[in-house]
Amino acid sequence: MNGHDLVRSVKAVGMVGTAQGLRTVRSSWRRWRADSKGLAPRGTERARVPGAVTGMEPAPGGGVVRFARSELRVRVTSGGAVFLGWDGAEPDPSYALSCRSPEPDPRAVLEPDKEGGWRVVSERATVVVSRHGAVELRTPGGVMLRRDLPPRWWEPAEGGAGRWLQRSEVAADARFFGLGGRSGGPRLRNGTYRLWNTDPGGSFGPGDDPLYITMPVQMVVADAGTHLVFHDNSWEGEVSVHEGVEGAGSGHDRAGVCEVRMSGGPLRSWTMVGTPARVLHSWASLTGPPALPPSWALGHHHARWGFGSEQEVRRVVAGYQGRGLPLDAVHLDIDHYDAHQVFTVDKERFPKLPQFADELGRSGIRLVSIVDPAVKCEPGVEVYDSGTAADAFVRDAAGRPVRGVVWPGEAVYPDFTDPRAREWWGTLYEERLEQGFSGFWHDMNEPVSFAAFGEATLPRSARHSMEGRGGDHREAHNVYGLAMARAGYEALRRLHPEERPFLFSRSGWAGMQRYGGTWSGDVSTGWPGLRASLSLVLGLGLCGVPYSGPDVGGFDGSPSPELYLRWFQLGAYLPLFRTHAAITAGRREPWEFGDEVLGHAREVLVERRRLLPYFVTLAHLARRTGAPYVRPLWWGSPEDRALRDCEDAFLLGDSLLVAPVLESGAACRAVRLPRGRWYDTATGMAYEGPGTVLVEAPLARIPVFARAGTVLPVRGCEGGLELEAWAPAQGGTGGGLVVADAGDGWAEAELERFTTRWSGGSVVVERDGDAGPAPGRPVRVRGLGGAAEV
Ligand code: GLC
Repeated sequence: MNGHDLVRSVKAVGMVGTAQGLRTVRSSWRRWRADSKGLAPRGTERARVPGAVTGMEPAPGGGVVRFARSELRVRVTSGGAVFLGWDGAEPDPSYALSCRSPEPDPRAVLEPDKEGGWRVVSERATVVVSRHGAVELRTPGGVMLRRDLPPRWWEPAEGGAGRWLQRSEVAADARFFGLGGRSGGPRLRNGTYRLWNTDPGGSFGPGDDPLYITMPVQMVVADAGTHLVFHDNSWEGEVSVHEGVEGAGSGHDRAGVCEVRMSGGPLRSWTMVGTPARVLHSWASLTGPPALPPSWALGHHHARWGFGSEQEVRRVVAGYQGRGLPLDAVHLDIDHYDAHQVFTVDKERFPKLPQFADELGRSGIRLVSIVDPAVKCEPGVEVYDSGTAADAFVRDAAGRPVRGVVWPGEAVYPDFTDPRAREWWGTLYEERLEQGFSGFWHDMNEPVSFAAFGEATLPRSARHSMEGRGGDHREAHNVYGLAMARAGYEALRRLHPEERPFLFSRSGWAGMQRYGGTWSGDVSTGWPGLRASLSLVLGLGLCGVPYSGPDVGGFDGSPSPELYLRWFQLGAYLPLFRTHAAITAGRREPWEFGDEVLGHAREVLVERRRLLPYFVTLAHLARRTGAPYVRPLWWGSPEDRALRDCEDAFLLGDSLLVAPVLESGAACRAVRLPRGRWYDTATGMAYEGPGTVLVEAPLARIPVFARAGTVLPVRGCEGGLELEAWAPAQGGTGGGLVVADAGDGWAEAELERFTTRWSGGSVVVERDGDAGPAPGRPVRVRGLGGAAEV
């Protein structure tokens, strides 16, 4: 770090010469000093590979294969997931797994394979362990999906955490997805992706990596099958992916390659094999079902950093109401806090928040509060005092509380990896509920400490409880946001047991879906940011986090009316539909962009409200099956290679295909359709997939297609639930699922299954279990007049 860098970094945070700037410089030095004293330098290292096989010991679901210098536990579990643990690593403890530890599959046994290796045959996959510790995962038909080469470790000669590398090969046609929220996908391009949750500072676009949520979860899609691999290790790491090359019939394919490098921690993985739907179902069984949002959280949210006062919020809400624009939630950012301090309210600007919240509630609008983890470090500050009394804050190697700098100035950080700290933190949500908030927006929890140089987070040497086992920030960093979400979620379950918690968090890790969703973070205003928004939502969905969405309009700038509208139109089909912007950015109210935009935005909001029952159904299906609401086009046809590369459209559940406009000036766009018949919902025109079609995309709307034969629930004019059915192709059938729930609470909602078929010249919609065509709900059949185009 030279002086020039320092000046540049301090300027970057806009604090030169300010008290906050000085604090930031001091905190960066503290961080640097803490790590130079508190972390042993990496000295001489010894490399190790497993060596030759020496024996085997059977155990339920597989067994342990012993090698000269390591051992490998293979365990196939009853859900079909395969656990591999080297050097004695077991599935527990793990931040990713939900409490139900999966049972071994009693039918899976380890048996000798050729050339001195071993294999486990199970219903969904065969695992073959070679004599030197390579592990192959094959389909039940024997086709190779993944081949892990023998791992390598580098261990400090004087003991301590070793680093490791595992290189794997996949089929030449395979495509990689996942690794958390990545801005340049969803298909991961050849390159190296860091595993270290990071606030990019300022705003980000498609080239910026890593971002707030990283996780060692890869989904690999190939002709032979789809698999998901999770390396259960929260340390900093890197994953490099290189797609293979097919030999164009010469028989000389070059395999795809993936390398996982971790700076410490166990080498253990979980692998799931099957269709994309099956793989994510297994993933949700392993790491827990996604939290079910209350239905208002599936409506439209309006946020802004810098409303500044109750009057301004009133003005915005009145603007929505006066123009007939549906609105379900308003989010208050850090400017409603007293001097940016979490769990406080600026009483001058928001003098009667509980009454105001009540008033909004009567119009069906909920208040959501930002919650930052850092607590102002100042005796007399209530949260600081109670946290200190509970011994809840992260300490350094010498036992002193670690101080960083965030919005309120010098701050300390709760250690969410400590069950007692989570318990204490949870009690603080009571104040938020009393203020009238219904939902929670966790921010800055990578965690962030502003930096003049070095990384904008806590020192790596900072100590953490790690559930009582003890550890440091190198291991705790990536699970900090996840553990904070757990603290919030569990508290809300305790404080308001009859309501579904609504919580979304900027940072997180594998398993975060148990507690809530996430959002894009500070996506940059511009067409590339719009594209990145979709990439994030799709990628996170494939890592089991189904509820997310971007800052509509982008975080940091003033979108053109066209860009704003296109973002709004995309956002309306994503689970979290929220407009938000930075304090320095332009306004985001739909009427700020002229009458034409306002008119189209109104149609978008009305359509989102009409689709609310469908979103509720998708939320239930995500909970029951792990399937994300927003899915890549290859979801149902992973064998269609052209779809694997398709990144500008998506499936919303089983029924709809959404093709957003991601470029300026477009009036039409090409859409790649999966197999089957699809109707353009605006024109009723039918198209046959697979194939690419060119459709109109005027400023008024983005193309949305309905799958032939599908049935989806919508809100009727009177507010009741109705069914929208789309004619099956002639001679074909179809169907759809509907979960109608009360909007909140825990009553188990019934899943209704509908089918469609032709009978004579008309389409019949029937509910499973009913005799005759009486689904018990109003039905509208569409797509009857559409001439098919190829
Ligand atoms: C962070 C968040 C952003 C929020 C701001 C102020 O940048 O990502 O959404 O508005 O902090 O709290």
